[in-house]
Amino acid sequence: MADGYLEKRMEEFSSSSRKSTSKHVSLDALFEKNRSYRGYKKDFVVKRDMLERIVNVNTKIASGKNQQVLRFKLVTKGEDADFILNNIKLGGMLPELHLPYEGTEPEAFIIVCTSVPETKIIDIDLGISLQSMSLKATEMGLNCVMICAFNKANIVEHFDLKCEPLAILAVGKGAENIKLKQISVDESRAYYRVDGVHYVPKVKLEDIIL
Ligand SMILES: Cc1cc2nc3c(=O)[nH]c(=O)nc-3n(C[C@H](O)[C@H](O)[C@H](O)COP(=O)(O)O)c2cc1C
Repeated sequence: MADGYLEKRMEEFSSSSRKSTSKHVSLDALFEKNRSYRGYKKDFVVKRDMLERIVNVNTKIASGKNQQVLRFKLVTKGEDADFILNNIKLGGMLPELHLPYEGTEPEAFIIVCTSVPETKIIDIDLGISLQSMSLKATEMGLNCVMICAFNKANIVEHFDLKCEPLAILAVGKGAENIKLKQISVDESRAYYRVDGVHYVPKVKLEDIIL
């Protein structure tokens, strides 16, 4: 065997495992960036094809019994988006801030509906869908917030929906500074703001493993 062959193979092996480690880190980085934004830049307009790319993840994700009963209404900047804005609640844990701040309102939305009566399995599908779409948006350089606090009756009537809306995903270019803060299980999980930074407490690993 030629001199240095084994050393070369070892170096190739360790460099490929370094590469796979760095891939893993980039998924972690995506999770870290994938925060809930309640303020967006007005100079960036989300186009319909961007929402379609985000919704496209639903053609690849898990679904209980592979039912795929979720349906998606895409809403870009305009009167319909203004209507949604008036029928959602953002930042309910910081009521004194009346989020979103004027001039940072979200302008594009994905209304997630179920085409059959809601069940536990469909709610799990909903969570997988929302998280997958949010991660896709983050990968695209956009940001989101999942919204369950919305006026369902008004949304159904305005959009003449034939299926039940379960959640709304706001999409845009985030205009907030958001940081994760590691906490113990006995500390408050309420998000808070200090000097314009939005802190999101997350319970540390040791405290979530049984
Ligand atoms: C099921 C679900 C419903 C949510 N509904 C709302 C909502 O109605 N309004 C809102 O401002 N945020 C809503 N959020 C965002 C959460 O408040 C947010 O995930 C939490 O504060 C943690 O922040 P993070 O997403 O940056 O980790 C919702 C999130 C989830 C998962």
